[in-house]
Amino acid sequence: MKFSMIILFFSFSSVINFVLVQSATLEISKFGGKPNTNIAKALTSAWAEACASTSAVKIVIPSGTYQMTHVDVKGPCKAPIEIQLDGTIKAPPKPEDVGGDQLLRIGYVNALTISGKGVIDGQGSYAWKQNDCSKNTKCKLLGMNLGFNFINNSIIRGITTKDSKHFHVNVLGCNNFTFDGFKVSTPGDSANTDGIHIGRSTGVNILNTDIATGDDCVSLGDGSRQVLVQNVKCGPGHGISIGSLGKYKEEESVDGITIKGCTLKGTTNGVRIKTWPNEPGTITVTNMRFEDITMDNVMNPIIIDQEYCPWNQCSKQNPSKIKISKVIIKDIKGTSGTKEGIILACSSGVPCEGVEISNVDLTFKGAPVIATCSNVKPKITGKAPACSAPSTKKE
Ligand SMILES: *[C@@H]1O[C@H](CO)[C@@H](O)[C@H](O)[C@H]1NC(C)=O
Ligand SMILES: *[C@@H]1O[C@H](CO)[C@@H](O)[C@H](O)[C@H]1NC(C)=O
Repeated sequence: MKFSMIILFFSFSSVINFVLVQSATLEISKFGGKPNTNIAKALTSAWAEACASTSAVKIVIPSGTYQMTHVDVKGPCKAPIEIQLDGTIKAPPKPEDVGGDQLLRIGYVNALTISGKGVIDGQGSYAWKQNDCSKNTKCKLLGMNLGFNFINNSIIRGITTKDSKHFHVNVLGCNNFTFDGFKVSTPGDSANTDGIHIGRSTGVNILNTDIATGDDCVSLGDGSRQVLVQNVKCGPGHGISIGSLGKYKEEESVDGITIKGCTLKGTTNGVRIKTWPNEPGTITVTNMRFEDITMDNVMNPIIIDQEYCPWNQCSKQNPSKIKISKVIIKDIKGTSGTKEGIILACSSGVPCEGVEISNVDLTFKGAPVIATCSNVKPKITGKAPACSAPSTKKE
């Protein structure tokens, strides 16, 4: 008797909560979006109705497996929209069948939430086999899973992006945009599958996220400002990269990147800044903070590479024109896969300034790593390797 009264009380209060906080719900099935069908049209129709609503709306894609081709939805919308994805959405395996360069592109909105326990599966294994970018500089890369363009005050949480054909997520022109409890899942041998790529955006937070890829875990392109990457686990993949930068004249500067409380496991790089030599870009990279990071068998744990030139695509005749300054490298521990735990290969044209290294406790086969440095005089405090030789270039 007592017990059932307690149950009654709890269910009564959750009904009240439901009434108070729930926004209007639009089930995808109302628009013809059924499991095992292509829900592109249904999602587009649901968005149109949600976007026209003057009060908050939640679009729900329940558990189940769905197919989807390219969806491109835009604001401005009249009120906040949430997409709750609990099902698995599968892209067509062939890039040419997707119908656009991103499976789901959302743009020009304010206060978007994507939530749920669902998965966006790019089914990329067919596309990875076609990838010839290591031989062909004009190679075509198609089929990102998610594109967020010019979106403000928004949050992506819970969902997983799996086996994207190309980058998993592209963030362009966004302000105050957060990933929390997000997941990226791809095998280590899948080419060009960067986890989250950010460009021309301010106030992006990537929190409590696990990223396994065949390329960069997080890549920060030109115009990335006030970015916080915290409690992120990377591996396999190429690690966290700022750049590559400098290839184009019209790039925007990079300012205020904090990588903190992260773990990198078995990645080729830990934290890397890469700029192209002999290219026109003249932007600056400043206020970088790499702090409290654990490396677990990472090939190049800390690396500034201003002679970045993959597959010998460029000339090294002239140095990079990108000025790097105010870089704090602090409380880094764990194991390196090479003897050179810190490589600072700065530009001979514009040397790095204000680089501070403190408490770097990295070992290679049980011995402390060394630091190699060119065109930089880092300030070293606490337990950390001093620069013992000029940096040797490795590709
Ligand atoms: C996002 O913020 C920028 C800068 O404040 C503003 O110019 C833009 O109109 C906003 N976009 C939306 C969709 O609210
Ligand atoms: C940033 O966006 C979040 C939603 O993710 C919102 O709650 C918060 O108020 C926004 N912050 C600012 C400064 O607008």
